[in-house]
Amino acid sequence: MDFKKLVLETRSVRRFQQEPAPGREQLEAWVDLARRTPSATNRQPLRYLVVAGAEDCARLFPSLHWAGALKDWPGPAEGERPTGYVLLLRDSRLSKTREHDEGIAAYALQLAARADGYGSCMLGAIERDRIRAEFSLPEWCEIILVLAFGIQGETIVLEDAGTGVASPSYYRDADSVHHVPKRTLKDVLID
Ligand SMILES: Cc1cc2nc3c(=O)[nH]c(=O)nc-3n(C[C@H](O)[C@H](O)[C@H](O)COP(=O)(O)O)c2cc1C
Repeated sequence: MDFKKLVLETRSVRRFQQEPAPGREQLEAWVDLARRTPSATNRQPLRYLVVAGAEDCARLFPSLHWAGALKDWPGPAEGERPTGYVLLLRDSRLSKTREHDEGIAAYALQLAARADGYGSCMLGAIERDRIRAEFSLPEWCEIILVLAFGIQGETIVLEDAGTGVASPSYYRDADSVHHVPKRTLKDVLID
C-alpha cells in the first residue's frame, strides 16, 4: 500500500466487523515487526501479550474505556467489538521510565494491521489492576497500552480543525460517521 494512504487510513477504529478475526499468528506477525522498531539505547524493554479468540477477548473487554469525547456512547456493543488485542507491556526491571519506545511500537502495530486490512485503536484508558489480575501478569510487567484490532466496521472522516481551537475533539454526525479534526499544516508549523 502507498505509504501516504497507509498513514491517512490508519485511524482509531472503535466499531468492528466480527469476521475475519486476526488469529494469534496474525497478531504475532505484527508484534514481530514492532519488536524491531527504534528503542532508546536499544534497551528494548517492551513486552507484548497477544489476546486472541472470542473467549479471551471477552475477558479483556470490560477493562477498556472507549472514546471519552463521545459522552453518550458506552463503547462498542456486542457484535461490533474488537476481535483481537495486543497488550503493550514494559519490563520495569529493564527500564523504569516512560520512553518514546512505546508510542513508536504502538503505532507500528497500527500501521502493520492496516497494511494487512485491519483497523485498530490504541487504548490508554484501561483498568490496569483488573487486566493484571485477569491475565496473571507478573509485577515487573508494567501495562502501558492496549491495542485493539479487527476489520473496520465504521466510516471515519479526517478533516481540518478550525484555527485556534484549544482541543479539536472528534465527533459523530447524524449518520454515525466518525469525524476526526486535525490541526492544519499552517497551524502546526512554527514560522
Ligand atoms: C496514547 C493514546 C491513548 C489513547 N487511548 C484511548 C482510549 O483509551 N480509548 C479510546 O477510545 N481511544 C484512545 N485513543 C485514541 C485517540 O482518541 C485517537 O488517536 C484520537 O481521537 C485521534 O483519532 P485518530 O487516531 O484516528 O487520529 C488513544 C490514543 C493514543 C495516542
